[in-house]
Order: sequence, then C-alpha cells, then structure tokens
Amino acid sequence: MQPELAPGFPVGPLGIPETVRRRAAFALGRMRPALARYGRRRIAEEGLDKDLWDVFAARLDTHFPALYGHLLHLYAGRDDLSHHTGHLLRVALDSWLSRPAELRHRDAARDGVAWHTNPDIVAAVCYVDRFAGDLPGLTARIPYLERLGVGLLHLMPLFDVPPGQNDGGYAVSDYRVVRPDLGTIDDLRALASALHDAGIDLALDFVFNHTASDHRWAEELRAAAPESIEDEDRNPYLMFPDRTFPDRYDRSLREIFPETRSGSFSFDPGLDRWVWTTFNDFQWDLNYTNPDVFVRMSGEMLALANMGADVLRLDAVAFTWKQPGTSSESLPEVHDLVRAYNALVRIAAPAMVFLSEAIVHPDEVVSYIDPAECQLSYNPLQMALGWEALATRDTRLLRQSLSHRLDLPAGCAWLNYVRSHDDIGWTFDDDVDAAGLGINGVDHRAFLNRFYTGRFPGSFAQGLAFQENPGTGDARVAGTTASLAGLEKALSEEKPAEVDLAIGRILALYGIAFALPGMPLIYLGDELATLNDHGYRDDPDRAADSRWANRPRMAWDRLPLVDRAGTPEAKVSEGLARLVLVRRHPAFASPETIVHDVGDDAVLAFTRQTGEDAVLILANWTERTIVIPSGTVARLLKAPAAIDLLGGAPWSGTVGPVKLAPYQQRWLTVR
Ligand code: GLC
Ligand code: GLC
Repeated sequence: MQPELAPGFPVGPLGIPETVRRRAAFALGRMRPALARYGRRRIAEEGLDKDLWDVFAARLDTHFPALYGHLLHLYAGRDDLSHHTGHLLRVALDSWLSRPAELRHRDAARDGVAWHTNPDIVAAVCYVDRFAGDLPGLTARIPYLERLGVGLLHLMPLFDVPPGQNDGGYAVSDYRVVRPDLGTIDDLRALASALHDAGIDLALDFVFNHTASDHRWAEELRAAAPESIEDEDRNPYLMFPDRTFPDRYDRSLREIFPETRSGSFSFDPGLDRWVWTTFNDFQWDLNYTNPDVFVRMSGEMLALANMGADVLRLDAVAFTWKQPGTSSESLPEVHDLVRAYNALVRIAAPAMVFLSEAIVHPDEVVSYIDPAECQLSYNPLQMALGWEALATRDTRLLRQSLSHRLDLPAGCAWLNYVRSHDDIGWTFDDDVDAAGLGINGVDHRAFLNRFYTGRFPGSFAQGLAFQENPGTGDARVAGTTASLAGLEKALSEEKPAEVDLAIGRILALYGIAFALPGMPLIYLGDELATLNDHGYRDDPDRAADSRWANRPRMAWDRLPLVDRAGTPEAKVSEGLARLVLVRRHPAFASPETIVHDVGDDAVLAFTRQTGEDAVLILANWTERTIVIPSGTVARLLKAPAAIDLLGGAPWSGTVGPVKLAPYQQRWLTVR
C-alpha cells in the first residue's frame, strides 16, 4: 500500500512567500541557460538518456523556490550567495546525471509517494562488522533478514575513520571511501541493490554536524598559511585563537560528553586553535555560516543517495547551527538547513527521505517532523517512557505523553524503538506531562538512572552509567534490551521465574514499538535476547564509552537455540515473529490511536483504528496478574466477541473479563 500524500509534500511552491518566489525565479532564470547547456552536453557526450535534463529541469522548477528561500534566510548577507547557488545546482545536476538507472526508477516510482509510511515496514539496525563481518558477509545474511520480516535496514556508519577512537564510525574521514575492513564502495552498491531486490530499503547516516579531525578539509587547513584560518567566513570549521569566544559560548551550552572533556571546545596544537567539538575532540563541528560548507556537504549527501540510500539518518541534527548566548541546539536556522537539504533531495534523488535523530525534548523532536523536513523521526519519548513504566510499574506518564504527542503531519511517521546503539536519556516533558502527575522530573531521572544501573534496591536491570556529570547530576544509561530488562541478572542468579519475567518485559517493550503508529525498529541481536558485552573494557579505544556494552557482536552460534523450545532465544524470537505478522492487520493502516484509562495504572491500553477495523491493545506493565472487568473491555471494544491476535482462545458469546498475566499483552479485535 502506498498512501498518496497530502498537498505540500514534498516541498512545493505552496507556503513560499511571493517575494521569495520572485527572487528565486529571477536567480534561476539567470543560472538556468548555462546549467541546461552543461547538462545537455554531458548527456550527449556520455550517451545518457535524453530525457534526463527535462526530468531534472521540471523538478528544479518545482523545488528551487524552497531551496533558494532557505538559502536566502541563512546567507542573505553574503554577496557570494549566487556564486554558491550556481555551484550547488551544478553539484545537484552532476549527481542526477550520475545516478544509477535502478535508483532513477525508484525516483520515478516514489516521488511524491509516502512509501515510508507503509505500515508493513519493519526496520532493523546493525553494525556491518558486528553483525556480519563485512559488506559481502552482510549480503550473504539477507535471507536471515527476510525471514525476520525486515523491510528497511539501517547500517551504522561504515565510511573511513581515523585509526583508534572514532565514536563508532561517527567521526568520518572520507564520505566516499568505505572503511577498508568492511569492503569497498562497489560492495556497498552491490549490497544496496541486493537489498532492493529482496524488497528491503537501505538507511545510511548523514553525519553532517562534524567530520573527523583528519578529514581532508582539516588537513588542508593544517597545510594552509596561518592567515587563511583567520577568515571565519571561509573556514569549514569553527575555530578560535584563544578562549574568549569558547568561554562565552560554553556558559550556555549543554555538555554532551562531560566524562570526556569539560565544555564544547578542544585545542588543536597543530593549528594553535580552539575548535568547536560538540562531541569528542576528534569530531570537528562544521561551520554552516559558510555557504561553501553547505555546498560541499550537499555533494557528500547526494553521493550517499547515489550509493543506494533510501533513508538518510540526519545524525546530531539539532547541533548544526550555533549562536552565542543560546544553547545552540535546534535553532531556527537548523530547520532552514534541513529544509534546504530536503529540497535538494527532491530535485536530485527524490526516492530518498530523511530520518531525524533528535533525542531531545518532545516539543523539539516534533519540530523536525514535516514532509518538507524530516519525513521520519525516532520516537525517543515512546522509547524512554516504555522503560520508565517498567521501572515504576506505572503507565501514567507514558499514557499522558502518548495521549497528546503521537500525531504527526500526513506523509510523516515515527520510528518506534526499544533501544539504539546509543545510551538511553530520559527525554520526557517536565512541565506539562510530569508535573501534571505530581512527578518531579529531576528526581525522577535520578531514580531512573539508579534503577537502570542496578543501584536501586530490588532493581532487575543491569545497565551501565553513561556520561555521568558530577556538576549537574545528569547521567544516561547504557545496556542491551535483555540486560536492562533483567535477563542478565536472572540468568546469573539462575532464577527461571525471573528469566520469564525478563522475557515478558522485552516483549512488552517491543509490543508497544510494534503496536504504536509508525515503523518499529529491531536492534539486530535483540531477537536472540543478547546480553551486555562487557569485553569493551579490554579495548583501550572503547573502554571509556559504556555504550559499547550495548553493541555486542551477533551471536550466530546461538541461533540454533531459537529452535529449542523454552530457551530465551526461542521465546523472544517467536514473540517478535508474531508481532511482525500481527501488525499487518488492517487496523494498523492509519495512524489513528486512542489511549485509554482502564482503572489500573499498571495497564497501558489503547486502540488502533482504521475505518471499521480496530485493535484494542491491553498491556500489563507489572509482574502481578491483572484482571480487567468484562464491562470495561466490552465498552472499549464496542463489540460482544473478540479474538486475541497474539494467541489464545477466542471468546464466543460475550467477552468475559480479560486476564493479563505478568507483562502479558493482548491485541483484541472483533475479527
Ligand atoms: C549521534 C549518534 C551517536 C554519536 C553522536 C555524534 O547521536 O547516534 O552515536 O556519538 O551522534 O556523532
Ligand atoms: C545525541 C543525543 C544524545 C545522545 C548522544 C550520543 O546527540 O542527543 O542524547 O546521548 O547523541 O550519546
């Protein structure tokens, strides 16, 4: 099913002020003839399809006003804007003319179609090396992904990185060279087309807030004359001769990796400069006030598109624009940047959509979600509050937040997840959602951190603290789904009843990721209930980053346990397989969701509905058995009889009371 899009998707002429439209028409009018000549010449010389220029020109006419409007907003004061815009269009046209035919066919089929909101798509994520060794190894594992029901695969960063520390690939030295131990660009292309043949879309990262400190652009600066570094307008990075500006900025910035370094700047002795480094000292933030940086990164982005990416994950999107005296997170200019990038994609690679990685306050998360900006977004609220409800055995904060924070614009969808390769941060809203329930956000986060690092008496969880900040008391939590849900502890204490409870928790969390509107994401390995990997401590490049505990290698040797009844591997993978199947019920076709109160705070209840089709989800978030009276169930189901899609005998006659075993979920429907 490929739903049609609401008007306005993708960035259309709609909503663009008349003045901007006129300026854009004037600018394009001046650039178009030379661009057309260049395009036609390349087409003739390379014997390309004659239609290619016309297709490009039509998309350019449609999307240039938005592109130019956002560039004007970002770079209005620059007298070299038209020079950079001309260069940008050349980059876009070159990319389009080099786009493989297979991908151009995808463009034709998907342009203007919200394919990514197809409710049947189940996403999965992995590191190439940790899951399958290398790219050819991953290609060989496609049948495994097909059996799991995967429809979209996110590969963690796989491009060239500096030796030693590289933040799990998020310090990119070269966006066009695959890390040699993983393979080559040709292997990546081959994998992309093998995935496409299997009906699986590919997601790659666009790490565009920073590059590695050994990227060519940084090396060029080191080789350049010192005076040239002073020219801030031309510098690809944000650098300062002394601490004056860094000190001023640091006062209002959040520290992302406080265990690594205090403040957001690092000193580079080679350049004798303080460099803006939001994350690690080897990740240099790009200077987007320089339009040349936008043009260069556009080239890298479109190269990723031409390698076969269907989804681009916009890494660390919130941090890309800086302004003294502010938090320098999610500033209005960030939205201009992303919208400009998006308009460019609509012109040169329209099959591709953006996934926003903004793990921030819920109001800020939604600010990125728009057909003209990011069409997909992680759902950190659903992720964090699922764990919160497990710790408290109370679903009120989860229900309160979901009840008014799920709706998205047409053409957009959530990526619902249980955990990622990163830490878990407690990103709920303190003022409306928590305070309304009498919860103090600061204390509650402190409790959740103690609970999930196993420091709270009676906690089932075995997670690790990540980036504890003694100054602010902040911390986040690392750990695999299974270890955080209690499986590691239960197995080490040899308590079979506790093992079952832990499995129940894993499936409860995945259950809501599958039941809520959006695309569910499986962290590959979670289907085998994989525990924390404590081995990272022996690797000096990883020992200081506890997130490596939740990035274990795929334990292929444990795959046979899936067929041995009663093992955690069998129970979890069967549970997931059932969720994949049951989600195809027509009730999940539209995002409509109604959250209910069934009179017991340990129960999460909601209805998914499309037209006449409805599924009532009842989920027990505790280790006690709960009975929901028949009257309540009948009222919510609006029907006398029902079946549980997750199994169990159907009711005949009238619906009786519903018994929910510890952590049990029932997905009830009348058909
Ligand atoms: C994102 C990634 C995280 C990385 C950071 C810096 O948040 O998910 O792993 O450390 O960006 O690139
Ligand atoms: C991202 C997130 C932050 C996360 C970090 C990686 O920037 O915003 O919450 O912890 O990357 O660990």
